[in-house]
Amino acid sequence: MKCIVIVDKDWGIGKEGNLLVHLPGDLQYFKEKTLGKVLIIGRKTLESLPGGRPLSGRKTIVLTGNPLYEPSTARDGTQPIVCHSRADIEDALNRLRNEQGIDINEDVIVAGGETVYEMFLPQCDEMLVTRIDRSFDADRHFANLDSLAAAGSVRLVWESEQHEENGITYKFTRYERI
Ligand SMILES: NC(=O)c1ccc[n+]([C@@H]2O[C@H](COP(=O)([O-])OP(=O)(O)OC[C@H]3O[C@@H](n4cnc5c(N)ncnc54)[C@H](OP(=O)(O)O)[C@@H]3O)[C@@H](O)[C@H]2O)c1
Repeated sequence: MKCIVIVDKDWGIGKEGNLLVHLPGDLQYFKEKTLGKVLIIGRKTLESLPGGRPLSGRKTIVLTGNPLYEPSTARDGTQPIVCHSRADIEDALNRLRNEQGIDINEDVIVAGGETVYEMFLPQCDEMLVTRIDRSFDADRHFANLDSLAAAGSVRLVWESEQHEENGITYKFTRYERI
């Protein structure tokens, strides 16, 4: 599987339930990379999306400990799959593979937040990381992939040119597990 994340200089990803910054170019990139795919997200991330609804054009697996949780549907009517543990998610992915031909390596993207990234990062072979060239006051973080690269477990395989929006510069990068 893969993951996709936007991080600040200190690998911060969010504050008080929201993203650190609004960058339309990154939202467009996220859309391009995730349309038609299966997203794995935590309940808090789902509720932080516009209208608290899953994104259209994608299947969403949402993780919650609440056995009574009833998420909203996406605008295109797609119902998210609710899972209550990592094992539950693995069962759901196996069902999608067997019944709908989903390729778990190519078609499944972990999209946050912190708890879900932590849970699945060891299974991600590819990490799509947008790196903002600024520090924010974050209360949620992603693993420091530069430290993991120095330790030899991942490597940076690509980075885009620099982009700028609203006075904020950022790059798209891709890391792979070694
Ligand atoms: N920068 C980015 O790319 C990016 C991407 C996504 C999110 N974010 C940010 O990340 C923050 C949210 O991250 P977060 O870590 O607070 O929340 P989260 O990972 O989105 O969701 C946490 C929730 O997931 C459920 N959960 C987690 N582990 C579980 C387990 N082992 N078993 C069952 N349920 C489990 C729990 O739901 P219940 O409480 O319902 O039990 C928990 O409260 C927000 O600020 C968001 O904007 C940033």
